[in-house]
Amino acid sequence: MSTILVTGGTGYIGSHTVVELMREGMEVVIVDNLSNSNLEVLDGIEAIAGKRPHFEEMDLRERDATYRVFEKYAGVDAIIHFAAFKAVGESVEKPLAYYENNLLSLIHLLEAMDRYGVDHMVFSSSCTVYGEPDSLPVTEDSPIKKATSPYGNTKQICEEILQDSQASSPGKGLISLRYFNPIGAHPSAMIGELPSGVPNNLIPFITQTAIGIREQLSVFGDDYNTPDGSAIRDYINVVDLARAHVKAIRRLLEKRQKQAYEVFNLGTGRGLSVFEVIRAFEKVTGQPLNFRVVDRREGDVEQVYADTTYANTELGWKAEIGIEETLLSAWDWEKYIRSKS
Ligand code: UD1
Repeated sequence: MSTILVTGGTGYIGSHTVVELMREGMEVVIVDNLSNSNLEVLDGIEAIAGKRPHFEEMDLRERDATYRVFEKYAGVDAIIHFAAFKAVGESVEKPLAYYENNLLSLIHLLEAMDRYGVDHMVFSSSCTVYGEPDSLPVTEDSPIKKATSPYGNTKQICEEILQDSQASSPGKGLISLRYFNPIGAHPSAMIGELPSGVPNNLIPFITQTAIGIREQLSVFGDDYNTPDGSAIRDYINVVDLARAHVKAIRRLLEKRQKQAYEVFNLGTGRGLSVFEVIRAFEKVTGQPLNFRVVDRREGDVEQVYADTTYANTELGWKAEIGIEETLLSAWDWEKYIRSKS
């Protein structure tokens, strides 16, 4: 049985991935400092997977504490590294905290891999590395643009660190997964996204508006050069996304990589505008959403969606869950968490 160390495993994408790994019979050790998640997530995981993952509360900024986890769980076969700060706006306010957290944690894990003989890592990257693309859809070979935020820059630098680290140590197999816009929740509604405070992202803002916590959704701009004027993104279901991690882990463990450092886009290949998302949400929930158009949000790109050919053919993965089912899962999750509080 393979043992996978999942950093940030109580977070949004991490928790869904832990469930999929456990369903495949893998042993999971979660490390998380609970800075943006809580221990109740473990109950949700256990309820779905029928088993509780190992859990260590620790901060990857501390090298010795990181090493201690590898000593305690000898025999880790691979790491999936989700743990990172991810709020674009906050990263502009606190750039040093973002560089410290996101870079140091990766460096400590790579050092631990050398020290404890762990050869494989999957890293959470983002389509933010493509910036405003020159042509669509974006392939893995599309140019990396200057990052528009410290958060985006940490993803670019982390990818470079991985590439350089792999080049210096040929035994390592590393994969960066570039997520487009992950949304939705597990169909059981037992795990999902838990934004703290006012959400920055579109879907949690929509569900919180629909349930009455927010008065109105602001649509950031209707004067983009798109068919309906609102910005276009590639919204990918979080369970689909989680399953791609299982594929990536298997590819590493079975040594099927074409190159020792690889990059995959994870999206649906289909772009949806903000207005299209709102309409789809209204359709599946049957209730009108209160929204108004405001100015564009600084730093937003006009449109970005993935060319998924490489992930389809090489990883053997394809997004399967449609937008309506996905929005319904986000809505079910919103209703579930509000019923508890
Ligand atoms: C951003 C980041 C991405 C990061 C992700 C997760 C960039 C360019 N993108 O994605 O790297 O991984 O957050 O935190 O840095 N919108 C509204 N009203 C709202 C909220 C959003 O109209 O209240 C619109 C946005 O303008 C955008 C779309 O909805 O067009 C999606 O926004 P959001 O969910 O915040 O994701 P991104 O900005 O695409």
